[in-house]
Amino acid sequence: MAILSKRAKYAVNALHEENVIAERLERNGKKIIRLNQGDPPLYFPTPRYTVDAYVRALRHGKTGYSEFGGIRELREAIARRHSTRGVPLGPEDVIVTAGVSGALQFLNEALVDMGDSAILFRPYYAVYTPWLRMAGGTPIFENYDEADNWNIEIGHVERSIRNLKREGKLGRVKYMLITNPNNPTGTVLRRSIIKEIVDIANENGILLVSDEIYDEIVYNNATFTSVGMLAKGMPHTILNGASKNYDATGFRIGYAAIPEKDKLSMAMKKAFSDFASVKISNSTPAQYAFADAISNEAEHRRELKGMVSGIEERVNFAMGLLEENRHLETVEPNGAFYLFPKIDTKALRIKNDSVFTRKLLEEEYVQVVRGSGFGSPNHFRMIALPPKEELELAINRINKFCRRHSR
Ligand SMILES: Cc1ncc(COP(=O)(O)O)c(C=O)c1O
Repeated sequence: MAILSKRAKYAVNALHEENVIAERLERNGKKIIRLNQGDPPLYFPTPRYTVDAYVRALRHGKTGYSEFGGIRELREAIARRHSTRGVPLGPEDVIVTAGVSGALQFLNEALVDMGDSAILFRPYYAVYTPWLRMAGGTPIFENYDEADNWNIEIGHVERSIRNLKREGKLGRVKYMLITNPNNPTGTVLRRSIIKEIVDIANENGILLVSDEIYDEIVYNNATFTSVGMLAKGMPHTILNGASKNYDATGFRIGYAAIPEKDKLSMAMKKAFSDFASVKISNSTPAQYAFADAISNEAEHRRELKGMVSGIEERVNFAMGLLEENRHLETVEPNGAFYLFPKIDTKALRIKNDSVFTRKLLEEEYVQVVRGSGFGSPNHFRMIALPPKEELELAINRINKFCRRHSR
């Protein structure tokens, strides 16, 4: 008899894959530059006013279980956050989760049965597929278009959906998920593209899910448009949380906002709330602190501005150094804080992106993540959060590595 369930094998996260090698190297005295995980508080400390709110919550005895779907103060703050940005919501439309990661679990457990599917765009955030597959679903992949700054080739999506319809498979498609701004590419989707995606979802009765966890980390003159602004009157869900915009990854607080009142939206709100009840509670002091972080809009704006201009400077600096490397080709990001270079594996005589990232770690002590972990082989993802000196050191090593392997 098998010890583990069949689905246990799907719990794979490429981000952590090389930690064992990195730790071994560290034990042997090597200093590793870790560019694998997007954890902003390591480089931009969580704002003082947010930390103070957390401490205050603890001192005021907010240490018990909370309302399972999230404390009222936080759900109201989230509803206000979106309402003032053109997406009207009420606190009853919000379910607080253990990070966006928790919302992804709820999404799949609520909707997906064995044999169902979901439309994902490659490259995708690395944990979309594990949650889908663990629920018994299969991804149907579409591609972000690297030649068009990683936007979406709409004609291709339309053709795929026509094929699914013809094959009688459209009914098993439970949702379509976009990430805007994107991890790993850093692309902020054009408003016209989002409108077309919204129309396709609407015409074909597909639930549209938008992971907008980086919605305020936008720069290089880009403008962010929420799906919620364009998807009025059709079922959709917006995922977001404390981790990135509020610089508090360790709080483990996220949420799903389900603005509409149609049958599917209402059923999802009920299911998400029931799942939350089974999980009993999220961190209570973290929810109070996040509510405070959102409500204190002036402080938030000030802190965010500092962090985003720091990120913009670091991303553009890193881009400049990568451009010196003729074996890598990188689309310029305008959101989040990642770079996703394409590797000329042929010229480097390196078999694939897995080998590239492993050798880079073993030879140059720089840890990045293989692109195939995001569904796009022959790329790698690195964060551009560290200070310039560290980025410079890391990219100089990457460039040296490529020069050596291209000889
Ligand atoms: C696109 C995207 N979605 C979700 C998450 C997970 O977020 P959380 O910390 O809220 O679980 C991340 C984390 O990097 C992400 O990049």
